[in-house]
Amino acid sequence: MPLQVIVGAQWGDEGKGRIVDWFAAQADFSARFNGGDNAGHTVTVGDRIFKLHLVPSGIIHPRIVAILGNGMVVNPGTLFEEMDMLRQAGISVSPERLRISYAAHLITPAHQALDKALEAQRGKGNIGTTGRGIGPAYTDKATRRGLRLADMLAPDFCERVGDHVAEANRTLNMLGASGLDPATVCEQFRQAAIRLKPYIADTTLELHAALQAGKTVLAEGAQGTLLDIDFGTYPFVTSSNTTAPGALTGLGLGLDVARQARVVGVVKAFQTRVGSGPFPTEVFDDLALRLRGTGENPWDEYGTTTGRPRRVGWLDGVLLKYAIRINGMSELAVTKLDILSGFDSLQLCTAYRRDGKLFTDLPFGPADLGRYEPVYEKLPGWLEDVSAVDTWASLPPAAQAYLDRLADLAGVPVRLVSVGPEREQVVSHQ
Ligand code: GDP
Ligand code: IMO
Ligand code: MG
Repeated sequence: MPLQVIVGAQWGDEGKGRIVDWFAAQADFSARFNGGDNAGHTVTVGDRIFKLHLVPSGIIHPRIVAILGNGMVVNPGTLFEEMDMLRQAGISVSPERLRISYAAHLITPAHQALDKALEAQRGKGNIGTTGRGIGPAYTDKATRRGLRLADMLAPDFCERVGDHVAEANRTLNMLGASGLDPATVCEQFRQAAIRLKPYIADTTLELHAALQAGKTVLAEGAQGTLLDIDFGTYPFVTSSNTTAPGALTGLGLGLDVARQARVVGVVKAFQTRVGSGPFPTEVFDDLALRLRGTGENPWDEYGTTTGRPRRVGWLDGVLLKYAIRINGMSELAVTKLDILSGFDSLQLCTAYRRDGKLFTDLPFGPADLGRYEPVYEKLPGWLEDVSAVDTWASLPPAAQAYLDRLADLAGVPVRLVSVGPEREQVVSHQ
Protein backbone atom coordinates (compact mmCIF):
# COMPACT_ATOMS: atom_id res chain seq x y z
CA MET A 1 0.00 0.00 0.00
CA PRO A 2 1.56 3.36 -0.94
CA LEU A 3 -0.02 5.51 1.80
CA GLN A 4 -0.29 4.17 5.33
CA VAL A 5 -1.88 6.44 7.89
CA ILE A 6 -1.24 5.74 11.57
CA VAL A 7 -3.55 7.59 13.94
CA GLY A 8 -4.52 7.51 17.60
CA ALA A 9 -7.98 6.12 18.33
CA GLN A 10 -8.29 7.62 21.82
CA TRP A 11 -6.99 10.74 23.64
CA GLY A 12 -3.36 10.48 22.48
CA ASP A 13 -0.37 8.55 23.84
CA GLU A 14 -1.71 5.29 22.42
CA GLY A 15 1.79 4.22 21.37
CA LYS A 16 1.72 5.70 17.86
CA GLY A 17 5.48 6.30 17.87
CA ARG A 18 6.37 2.64 18.40
CA ILE A 19 3.80 1.46 15.83
CA VAL A 20 5.16 3.95 13.26
CA ASP A 21 8.65 2.61 14.01
CA TRP A 22 7.36 -0.92 13.29
CA PHE A 23 5.86 0.07 9.91
CA ALA A 24 8.87 2.24 9.05
CA ALA A 25 11.04 -0.85 8.63
CA GLN A 26 9.18 -1.37 5.31
CA ALA A 27 8.59 2.27 4.30
CA ASP A 28 10.43 5.03 2.44
CA PHE A 29 8.96 8.23 3.90
CA SER A 30 7.78 9.04 7.42
CA ALA A 31 5.67 12.19 7.64
CA ARG A 32 3.98 14.13 10.45
CA PHE A 33 0.88 16.00 9.30
CA ASN A 34 -0.53 17.83 12.35
CA GLY A 35 0.25 19.36 15.70
CA GLY A 36 3.61 20.39 17.04
CA ASP A 37 5.72 19.69 20.09
CA ASN A 38 2.61 19.02 22.17
CA ALA A 39 3.17 15.50 20.85
CA GLY A 40 5.56 13.11 22.57
CA HIS A 41 6.16 9.89 20.66
CA THR A 42 8.35 7.20 22.22
CA VAL A 43 10.39 4.67 20.29
CA THR A 44 12.39 2.11 22.28
CA VAL A 45 15.23 0.29 20.56
CA GLY A 46 17.17 -1.91 22.98
CA ASP A 47 18.29 0.31 25.84
CA ARG A 48 17.81 3.50 23.81
CA ILE A 49 14.59 5.46 24.37
CA PHE A 50 13.82 8.18 21.82
CA LYS A 51 11.21 10.76 22.78
CA LEU A 52 10.22 12.60 19.63
CA HIS A 53 8.12 15.75 19.65
CA LEU A 54 8.43 17.02 16.08
CA VAL A 55 10.58 14.69 14.01
CA PRO A 56 8.57 11.74 12.61
CA SER A 57 9.14 8.47 14.46
CA GLY A 58 10.38 6.68 11.33
CA ILE A 59 13.66 8.65 11.46
CA ILE A 60 15.40 5.92 13.48
CA HIS A 61 15.45 3.71 10.36
CA PRO A 62 18.38 4.88 8.21
CA ARG A 63 16.67 4.67 4.80
CA ILE A 64 13.66 6.78 5.78
CA VAL A 65 13.19 10.36 4.59
CA ALA A 66 11.34 12.34 7.28
CA ILE A 67 8.82 15.06 6.38
CA LEU A 68 7.29 17.75 8.59
CA GLY A 69 4.10 18.58 6.73
CA ASN A 70 2.26 21.84 6.09
CA GLY A 71 -0.37 20.97 8.72
CA MET A 72 2.19 21.24 11.50
CA VAL A 73 3.19 24.08 13.81
CA VAL A 74 6.93 24.07 14.42
CA ASN A 75 8.88 25.43 17.37
CA PRO A 76 12.44 25.80 16.01
CA GLY A 77 14.00 25.55 19.49
CA THR A 78 12.43 22.14 20.15
CA LEU A 79 13.35 20.99 16.65
CA PHE A 80 17.02 21.90 17.17
CA GLU A 81 17.12 20.08 20.52
CA GLU A 82 15.63 17.02 18.88
CA MET A 83 17.99 17.14 15.91
CA ASP A 84 20.96 17.40 18.31
CA MET A 85 19.65 14.48 20.37
CA LEU A 86 19.28 12.34 17.24
CA ARG A 87 22.74 13.27 15.97
CA GLN A 88 24.26 12.34 19.31
CA ALA A 89 22.59 8.96 18.97
CA GLY A 90 24.27 8.53 15.58
CA ILE A 91 21.16 9.21 13.49
CA SER A 92 21.60 11.41 10.45
CA VAL A 93 19.30 14.45 10.23
CA SER A 94 20.84 16.04 7.15
CA PRO A 95 18.66 18.11 4.79
CA GLU A 96 18.56 15.06 2.50
CA ARG A 97 16.76 13.11 5.24
CA LEU A 98 14.67 15.76 6.95
CA ARG A 99 12.43 18.12 5.00
CA ILE A 100 10.05 20.76 6.35
CA SER A 101 7.12 22.17 4.41
CA TYR A 102 7.44 25.83 3.52
CA ALA A 103 3.76 26.14 4.46
CA ALA A 104 4.08 24.83 8.03
CA HIS A 105 3.61 27.53 10.66
CA LEU A 106 6.09 28.69 13.26
CA ILE A 107 5.53 28.65 17.00
CA THR A 108 7.21 31.55 18.79
CA PRO A 109 7.82 32.31 22.49
CA ALA A 110 4.92 34.78 22.17
CA HIS A 111 2.57 31.89 21.26
CA GLN A 112 3.78 29.96 24.30
CA ALA A 113 3.27 32.97 26.59
CA LEU A 114 -0.24 33.46 25.18
CA ASP A 115 -1.07 29.76 25.67
CA LYS A 116 -0.11 29.99 29.35
CA ALA A 117 -1.86 33.33 29.91
CA LEU A 118 -5.08 32.07 28.29
CA GLU A 119 -5.01 28.93 30.43
CA ALA A 120 -4.51 31.04 33.57
CA GLN A 121 -7.48 33.18 32.55
CA ARG A 122 -9.67 30.06 32.11
CA GLY A 123 -8.95 29.16 35.74
CA LYS A 124 -10.77 26.04 36.88
CA GLY A 125 -12.30 25.57 33.45
CA ASN A 126 -8.89 25.28 31.79
CA ILE A 127 -8.17 22.84 28.99
CA GLY A 128 -4.97 21.58 30.56
CA THR A 129 -2.93 22.36 27.44
CA THR A 130 0.71 21.37 27.15
CA GLY A 131 1.65 25.08 27.25
CA ARG A 132 3.55 24.72 23.96
CA GLY A 133 1.74 27.54 22.16
CA ILE A 134 -0.26 25.22 19.92
CA GLY A 135 -3.65 26.99 20.18
CA PRO A 136 -2.26 30.52 19.62
CA ALA A 137 -0.14 29.38 16.64
CA TYR A 138 -3.15 27.76 14.94
CA THR A 139 -5.22 30.86 15.83
CA ASP A 140 -2.73 33.03 13.95
CA LYS A 141 -2.87 30.59 11.03
CA ALA A 142 -6.68 30.79 10.91
CA THR A 143 -6.72 34.58 11.24
CA ARG A 144 -4.14 34.78 8.45
CA ARG A 145 -1.41 36.56 10.36
CA GLY A 146 0.76 33.54 11.13
CA LEU A 147 4.45 33.19 10.37
CA ARG A 148 5.28 30.34 8.01
CA LEU A 149 8.54 28.53 7.41
CA ALA A 150 8.68 30.17 3.97
CA ASP A 151 8.73 33.58 5.68
CA MET A 152 12.14 32.65 7.08
CA LEU A 153 13.49 33.00 3.56
CA ALA A 154 12.15 36.54 3.09
CA PRO A 155 14.35 39.64 3.63
CA ASP A 156 11.81 41.24 6.00
CA PHE A 157 11.47 38.13 8.23
CA CYS A 158 12.97 39.76 11.36
CA GLU A 159 10.69 42.76 10.99
CA ARG A 160 7.66 40.46 10.75
CA VAL A 161 8.72 38.59 13.88
CA GLY A 162 9.00 41.94 15.67
CA ASP A 163 5.48 42.96 14.57
CA HIS A 164 4.15 39.59 15.70
CA VAL A 165 5.69 39.96 19.17
CA ALA A 166 4.43 43.54 19.52
CA GLU A 167 0.91 42.38 18.59
CA ALA A 168 1.09 39.47 21.06
CA ASN A 169 2.33 41.82 23.77
CA ARG A 170 -0.85 43.87 23.47
CA THR A 171 -2.95 40.75 24.17
CA LEU A 172 -0.61 39.58 26.94
CA ASN A 173 -0.95 42.97 28.63
CA MET A 174 -4.74 42.73 28.43
CA LEU A 175 -4.50 39.30 30.07
CA GLY A 176 -2.31 40.73 32.83
CA ALA A 177 0.76 38.80 31.69
CA SER A 178 4.15 40.27 30.94
CA GLY A 179 5.20 40.82 27.35
CA LEU A 180 8.36 39.75 25.54
CA ASP A 181 11.23 41.76 24.14
CA PRO A 182 10.72 41.90 20.35
CA ALA A 183 14.45 42.41 19.68
CA THR A 184 15.42 39.25 21.60
CA VAL A 185 12.84 37.11 19.78
CA CYS A 186 13.86 38.63 16.43
CA GLU A 187 17.49 37.72 16.99
CA GLN A 188 16.56 34.20 18.09
CA PHE A 189 14.47 33.68 14.95
CA ARG A 190 17.07 35.30 12.67
CA GLN A 191 19.52 32.63 13.78
CA ALA A 192 16.90 29.88 13.57
CA ALA A 193 16.19 30.92 9.96
CA ILE A 194 19.86 30.54 9.02
CA ARG A 195 19.91 27.02 10.46
CA LEU A 196 16.57 25.92 9.04
CA LYS A 197 16.91 27.27 5.48
CA PRO A 198 18.43 24.10 3.98
CA TYR A 199 15.54 22.00 5.30
CA ILE A 200 12.65 24.07 3.93
CA ALA A 201 11.05 22.51 0.85
CA ASP A 202 7.86 21.97 -1.10
CA THR A 203 7.24 18.63 0.56
CA THR A 204 4.08 17.96 -1.47
CA LEU A 205 6.20 17.68 -4.62
CA GLU A 206 8.44 15.11 -2.96
CA LEU A 207 5.58 13.08 -1.56
CA HIS A 208 3.71 13.01 -4.87
CA ALA A 209 6.82 11.94 -6.74
CA ALA A 210 7.47 9.24 -4.15
CA LEU A 211 3.93 7.86 -4.34
CA GLN A 212 4.02 7.88 -8.13
CA ALA A 213 7.25 5.94 -8.05
CA GLY A 214 5.54 3.28 -5.92
CA LYS A 215 7.29 4.26 -2.68
CA THR A 216 5.60 3.87 0.68
CA VAL A 217 4.67 6.93 2.72
CA LEU A 218 3.79 6.61 6.40
CA ALA A 219 1.64 9.44 7.71
CA GLU A 220 1.94 9.75 11.49
CA GLY A 221 -0.85 11.42 13.41
CA ALA A 222 -0.17 13.31 16.60
CA GLN A 223 -2.67 13.32 19.50
CA GLY A 224 -5.75 11.14 18.99
CA THR A 225 -9.25 11.10 17.52
CA LEU A 226 -10.90 12.38 20.70
CA LEU A 227 -8.60 15.44 20.71
CA ASP A 228 -9.52 16.38 17.12
CA ILE A 229 -10.65 20.02 16.80
CA ASP A 230 -13.85 18.97 14.97
CA PHE A 231 -14.53 15.44 16.19
CA GLY A 232 -13.07 15.37 19.70
CA THR A 233 -14.46 16.21 23.12
CA TYR A 234 -14.68 19.91 22.21
CA PRO A 235 -13.60 22.30 23.77
CA PHE A 236 -11.21 19.92 25.57
CA VAL A 237 -9.28 19.20 22.39
CA THR A 238 -6.17 20.33 20.57
CA SER A 239 -6.29 22.84 17.69
CA SER A 240 -5.73 20.59 14.66
CA ASN A 241 -7.32 17.72 12.78
CA THR A 242 -5.74 14.69 14.38
CA THR A 243 -7.83 12.20 12.39
CA ALA A 244 -6.83 10.35 9.21
CA PRO A 245 -8.30 12.82 6.66
CA GLY A 246 -5.97 15.40 8.25
CA ALA A 247 -3.12 13.43 6.67
CA LEU A 248 -4.35 14.58 3.24
CA THR A 249 -4.73 18.27 4.03
CA GLY A 250 -1.72 18.26 6.34
CA LEU A 251 0.59 16.78 3.71
CA GLY A 252 -0.93 18.13 0.50
CA LEU A 253 -2.18 14.76 -0.76
CA GLY A 254 -5.35 14.29 -2.80
CA LEU A 255 -8.26 11.90 -2.75
CA ASP A 256 -6.69 9.73 -5.46
CA VAL A 257 -4.13 8.68 -2.85
CA ALA A 258 -6.78 8.19 -0.17
CA ARG A 259 -8.55 5.55 -2.24
CA GLN A 260 -5.71 3.13 -1.72
CA ALA A 261 -4.69 4.13 1.80
CA ARG A 262 -4.36 1.77 4.72
CA VAL A 263 -5.54 3.44 7.93
CA VAL A 264 -4.24 1.92 11.15
CA GLY A 265 -5.88 2.96 14.40
CA VAL A 266 -3.59 2.69 17.39
CA VAL A 267 -5.55 1.83 20.51
CA LYS A 268 -4.23 1.25 23.99
CA ALA A 269 -5.68 -1.85 25.68
CA PHE A 270 -7.20 0.52 28.25
CA GLN A 271 -8.08 4.23 28.13
CA THR A 272 -5.93 7.23 29.16
CA ARG A 273 -6.20 10.99 28.98
CA VAL A 274 -3.99 13.95 30.00
CA GLY A 275 -5.58 17.31 30.72
CA SER A 276 -9.20 18.23 31.41
CA GLY A 277 -12.44 17.00 29.85
CA PRO A 278 -14.96 14.19 30.14
CA PHE A 279 -13.78 10.59 30.57
CA PRO A 280 -16.72 8.25 31.25
CA THR A 281 -14.72 5.08 31.97
CA GLU A 282 -12.16 6.78 34.25
CA VAL A 283 -11.14 4.82 37.36
CA PHE A 284 -9.51 6.05 40.56
CA ASP A 285 -7.53 4.93 43.62
CA ASP A 286 -5.88 1.48 43.64
CA LEU A 287 -7.25 0.42 40.29
CA ALA A 288 -5.95 3.63 38.70
CA LEU A 289 -2.54 3.02 40.20
CA ARG A 290 -2.50 -0.49 38.72
CA LEU A 291 -3.16 0.86 35.23
CA ARG A 292 -1.03 4.00 35.53
CA GLY A 293 1.97 2.53 37.33
CA THR A 294 3.95 4.39 39.95
CA GLY A 295 6.33 6.08 37.52
CA GLU A 296 9.20 3.60 38.07
CA ASN A 297 8.99 2.20 34.54
CA PRO A 298 9.56 4.40 31.49
CA TRP A 299 6.22 3.21 30.06
CA ASP A 300 4.14 4.15 33.13
CA GLU A 301 1.35 6.61 32.40
CA TYR A 302 3.08 9.96 32.89
CA GLY A 303 3.06 12.43 29.98
CA THR A 304 6.01 12.20 27.55
CA THR A 305 5.86 15.97 26.97
CA THR A 306 4.76 17.39 30.33
CA GLY A 307 5.41 14.57 32.85
CA ARG A 308 1.82 14.95 34.17
CA PRO A 309 0.19 11.75 35.50
CA ARG A 310 -2.30 10.49 32.93
CA ARG A 311 -5.89 9.80 33.92
CA VAL A 312 -6.70 6.12 33.31
CA GLY A 313 -9.77 3.93 32.81
CA TRP A 314 -11.27 0.89 31.12
CA LEU A 315 -11.34 0.66 27.35
CA ASP A 316 -14.28 2.55 25.86
CA GLY A 317 -15.75 0.52 22.99
CA VAL A 318 -18.37 3.14 22.12
CA LEU A 319 -15.70 5.76 21.52
CA LEU A 320 -13.57 3.21 19.67
CA LYS A 321 -16.41 2.48 17.28
CA TYR A 322 -16.79 6.22 16.75
CA ALA A 323 -13.05 6.53 16.02
CA ILE A 324 -13.24 3.76 13.42
CA ARG A 325 -16.03 5.63 11.64
CA ILE A 326 -14.46 9.09 11.68
CA ASN A 327 -11.06 7.86 10.49
CA GLY A 328 -12.16 5.12 8.10
CA MET A 329 -9.76 2.79 9.92
CA SER A 330 -9.08 -0.48 8.17
CA GLU A 331 -7.43 -2.21 11.10
CA LEU A 332 -6.24 -1.77 14.67
CA ALA A 333 -2.89 -1.97 16.43
CA VAL A 334 -3.50 -2.64 20.13
CA THR A 335 -0.75 -1.53 22.52
CA LYS A 336 0.15 -2.18 26.17
CA LEU A 337 -1.62 -5.52 26.38
CA ASP A 338 1.05 -6.53 28.92
CA ILE A 339 -0.32 -4.01 31.42
CA LEU A 340 -3.62 -5.92 31.62
CA SER A 341 -1.90 -9.13 32.82
CA GLY A 342 -2.79 -10.05 36.38
CA PHE A 343 -6.43 -8.94 36.52
CA ASP A 344 -9.04 -11.59 37.48
CA SER A 345 -11.52 -9.85 35.21
CA LEU A 346 -11.61 -6.87 32.87
CA GLN A 347 -14.32 -4.35 32.08
CA LEU A 348 -15.08 -3.22 28.56
CA CYS A 349 -17.54 -0.37 27.94
CA THR A 350 -19.93 -1.50 25.20
CA ALA A 351 -22.69 1.11 25.52
CA TYR A 352 -23.76 4.24 27.40
CA ARG A 353 -26.92 4.77 29.39
CA ARG A 354 -28.77 8.05 29.81
CA ASP A 355 -32.28 8.55 31.26
CA GLY A 356 -32.85 4.78 31.15
CA LYS A 357 -32.00 4.59 27.43
CA LEU A 358 -29.07 2.63 25.98
CA PHE A 359 -26.78 4.17 23.34
CA THR A 360 -24.14 2.36 21.28
CA ASP A 361 -23.66 5.44 19.09
CA LEU A 362 -23.71 8.98 20.44
CA PRO A 363 -26.42 11.29 19.07
CA PHE A 364 -24.15 14.36 19.15
CA GLY A 365 -20.66 12.88 19.10
CA PRO A 366 -18.41 12.87 22.13
CA ALA A 367 -18.67 16.52 23.17
CA ASP A 368 -21.14 16.09 26.04
CA LEU A 369 -19.92 12.71 27.30
CA GLY A 370 -20.30 13.83 30.90
CA ARG A 371 -24.04 13.17 30.68
CA TYR A 372 -23.73 9.46 29.92
CA GLU A 373 -23.03 6.51 32.19
CA PRO A 374 -20.88 3.68 30.82
CA VAL A 375 -22.36 0.17 30.54
CA TYR A 376 -19.73 -2.53 31.04
CA GLU A 377 -19.29 -6.06 29.84
CA LYS A 378 -17.17 -8.19 32.18
CA LEU A 379 -14.55 -10.39 30.53
CA PRO A 380 -12.20 -12.94 32.09
CA GLY A 381 -8.67 -11.68 32.75
CA TRP A 382 -5.38 -13.59 32.53
CA LEU A 383 -2.56 -13.91 35.03
CA GLU A 384 0.32 -14.82 32.69
CA ASP A 385 3.03 -12.31 31.79
CA VAL A 386 2.66 -11.77 28.03
CA SER A 387 5.72 -9.59 27.46
CA ALA A 388 7.73 -12.38 25.81
CA VAL A 389 4.86 -13.68 23.65
CA ASP A 390 5.63 -13.42 19.94
CA THR A 391 2.76 -15.23 18.25
CA TRP A 392 -0.98 -14.81 18.46
CA ALA A 393 -1.41 -18.51 19.27
CA SER A 394 0.78 -18.21 22.36
CA LEU A 395 -1.27 -15.39 23.88
CA PRO A 396 -3.41 -16.62 26.80
CA PRO A 397 -6.90 -17.63 25.57
CA ALA A 398 -8.49 -14.89 27.73
CA ALA A 399 -6.21 -12.26 26.10
CA GLN A 400 -7.20 -13.54 22.65
CA ALA A 401 -10.87 -13.38 23.69
CA TYR A 402 -10.44 -9.78 24.93
CA LEU A 403 -8.86 -8.74 21.62
CA ASP A 404 -11.47 -10.65 19.61
CA ARG A 405 -14.27 -8.89 21.49
CA LEU A 406 -12.59 -5.54 20.88
CA ALA A 407 -12.32 -6.27 17.13
CA ASP A 408 -15.91 -7.41 17.12
CA LEU A 409 -17.08 -4.14 18.71
CA ALA A 410 -14.86 -2.08 16.40
CA GLY A 411 -15.92 -3.95 13.27
CA VAL A 412 -12.31 -4.10 11.99
CA PRO A 413 -9.53 -6.64 12.66
CA VAL A 414 -6.73 -6.33 15.19
CA ARG A 415 -3.60 -6.74 13.05
CA LEU A 416 -0.88 -5.90 15.57
CA VAL A 417 -0.59 -6.26 19.32
CA SER A 418 2.27 -4.86 21.37
CA VAL A 419 3.22 -6.57 24.61
CA GLY A 420 6.05 -4.29 25.75
CA PRO A 421 7.67 -1.02 24.67
CA GLU A 422 10.57 -2.50 22.72
CA ARG A 423 10.73 -2.67 18.95
CA GLU A 424 10.56 -6.48 18.91
CA GLN A 425 7.65 -6.79 21.35
CA VAL A 426 4.99 -6.89 18.65
CA VAL A 427 2.70 -9.78 17.70
CA SER A 428 1.18 -9.74 14.23
CA HIS A 429 -2.18 -11.31 13.52
CA GLN A 430 -3.04 -11.81 9.85
P1 GDP B 1 2.34 8.17 21.47
O1 GDP B 1 2.25 9.60 21.84
O2 GDP B 1 1.06 7.63 20.93
O3 GDP B 1 3.50 7.85 20.56
O4 GDP B 1 2.62 7.37 22.83
P2 GDP B 1 3.66 7.80 24.00
O5 GDP B 1 5.02 7.51 23.55
O6 GDP B 1 3.37 9.17 24.50
O7 GDP B 1 3.20 6.83 25.17
C1 GDP B 1 3.22 5.47 25.06
C2 GDP B 1 4.11 4.90 26.16
O8 GDP B 1 3.88 3.51 26.27
C3 GDP B 1 5.60 5.02 25.87
O9 GDP B 1 6.30 5.12 27.08
C4 GDP B 1 5.93 3.72 25.16
O10 GDP B 1 7.29 3.33 25.28
C5 GDP B 1 5.06 2.77 25.94
N1 GDP B 1 4.58 1.60 25.19
C6 GDP B 1 4.15 1.52 23.90
N2 GDP B 1 3.70 0.28 23.63
C7 GDP B 1 3.82 -0.43 24.79
C8 GDP B 1 3.50 -1.76 25.17
O11 GDP B 1 2.99 -2.57 24.40
N3 GDP B 1 3.76 -2.11 26.47
C9 GDP B 1 4.31 -1.26 27.37
N4 GDP B 1 4.52 -1.69 28.62
N5 GDP B 1 4.64 0.00 27.04
C10 GDP B 1 4.39 0.40 25.77
P1 IMO C 1 0.67 12.60 21.45
O1 IMO C 1 0.94 12.89 20.00
C1 IMO C 1 -1.96 13.32 24.86
C2 IMO C 1 -3.81 17.29 25.11
C3 IMO C 1 -3.40 18.20 26.26
C4 IMO C 1 -4.70 18.97 26.45
C5 IMO C 1 -5.20 19.14 25.02
C6 IMO C 1 -4.85 20.48 24.38
O2 IMO C 1 1.88 12.34 22.26
O3 IMO C 1 -0.37 11.55 21.59
P2 IMO C 1 -2.59 21.50 23.39
O4 IMO C 1 -1.28 21.74 24.05
O5 IMO C 1 -2.53 20.60 22.22
O6 IMO C 1 -3.34 22.77 23.09
O7 IMO C 1 -3.46 20.74 24.53
O8 IMO C 1 -4.62 18.10 24.26
N1 IMO C 1 -2.69 16.78 24.29
C7 IMO C 1 -2.24 15.52 24.32
N2 IMO C 1 -2.60 14.48 25.10
N3 IMO C 1 -1.04 13.15 23.89
C8 IMO C 1 -0.70 14.17 23.08
O9 IMO C 1 0.10 14.01 22.01
C9 IMO C 1 -1.27 15.44 23.31
N4 IMO C 1 -1.14 16.65 22.71
C10 IMO C 1 -2.03 17.44 23.31
O10 IMO C 1 -3.06 17.44 27.40
O11 IMO C 1 -5.64 18.18 27.13
MG1 MG D 1 2.58 10.84 23.50
